Amino acid sequence: MKRVAVITSSDKGYRGEREDLSGPAVKEIVEAAGYQVVSMDILPDDREMLSARMAEIADLGLAELILTTGGTGFSQRDVTPEATEDVIERRVPGIPEAMRAFSMTITKRAMLSRATAGIRKKTLIINLPGSPKAVRESLEVVMDSLGHGIEILTGEAGECGR
Ligand code: MTE
Repeated sequence: MKRVAVITSSDKGYRGEREDLSGPAVKEIVEAAGYQVVSMDILPDDREMLSARMAEIADLGLAELILTTGGTGFSQRDVTPEATEDVIERRVPGIPEAMRAFSMTITKRAMLSRATAGIRKKTLIINLPGSPKAVRESLEVVMDSLGHGIEILTGEAGECGR
């Protein structure tokens, strides 16, 4: 079973001032798709703490997929894409491109998410925007293809079907 680590990036969530609804939304969607959620972290919008946790999960091989939620916008504290870029070894632009292209048909504000994605070792890291609505809309378009990508990444699948 493919393992997923969920990381919510939110100062208010970390301080307990706001209930995290996005992390549980991610969990519900990936579990429905047959993934196993192995950890759920709520971290502040802190570039070093976020990147350290992503690197730890990838380097210890704790999950094949890391889904972050939040911190992709324009606020001074929004640093999730930068934290991700600090630790990825290879970029995967097609995933955020697909999420934004699909999301743009729902809200033009989708262009305001700076979400990125990439690979560190055998772990795929994908940023999602911070609202439960945006999480659902973003995952809806990529979920079907993720399994195949992860299987190629981990060596379970050798060739793409024609
Ligand atoms: N993407 C989808 N699919 N649906 C949305 O409602 N909201 C946008 C965008 N992406 C949205 C979306 C908005 S309003 C913002 S500000 C950015 O995501 C950044 O969100 P974040 O700072 O919570 O990560």
